[in-house]
Amino acid sequence: MKTLIAYFSHIGENLQNNEIVELKKGNTEVVAEKLQQLTGGDLYKIEEEEAYPYKYDDCLRRARREDENNEHPALKGGVKLNMDDYDEVYIGFPIWYRTYPRAVATFLGMYDFSGKTVYPFCTNDEGTFGISLLEMQGSIKGAEICDGLAIRGVDVNNSDARIRAYVGLL
Ligand SMILES: Cc1cc2nc3c(=O)[nH]c(=O)nc-3n(C[C@H](O)[C@H](O)[C@H](O)COP(=O)(O)O)c2cc1C
Repeated sequence: MKTLIAYFSHIGENLQNNEIVELKKGNTEVVAEKLQQLTGGDLYKIEEEEAYPYKYDDCLRRARREDENNEHPALKGGVKLNMDDYDEVYIGFPIWYRTYPRAVATFLGMYDFSGKTVYPFCTNDEGTFGISLLEMQGSIKGAEICDGLAIRGVDVNNSDARIRAYVGLL
């Protein structure tokens, strides 16, 4: 049984408790690294070719444009993973505009997830998945998509018990 933890995470200004804060390490990355330690799986960072802006307002503007036009921004390195190697795939992202960033939409469209067990996880400011799980169900076919783990950005460093429970360790 081989496990992949693929995640997107944005470094820079972000929204936390409805305030703009500067993150040197993204919230989703913190959770992804904890999942990697617990599962021993391979860690893979989904990175857009043209970096999302550091400033929150600029990032929001681009995120809105990509969302409205359902854009699929190019990713660094193209198709890099051999997805056939993996049985379990954790997919992590922040919520941007009630769903995952369009870079994650690109990632999901690049690979065949059929026959795999997918574990979605997200971080956000409000604690929910928005419409991201519905969107994921519509865009990846033939995979078993399990219940997701949603963590508020402010809580990533004190959610170890929930993260352990999610991988079945509690
Ligand atoms: C462009 C943008 C849009 C966002 N939209 C939402 C949103 O709709 N709902 C929400 O709860 N949080 C929203 N946030 C906050 C992030 O989801 C939250 O800070 C998350 O933990 C960031 O994860 P990261 O550091 O891994 O990128 C948004 C943040 C950004 C940068």
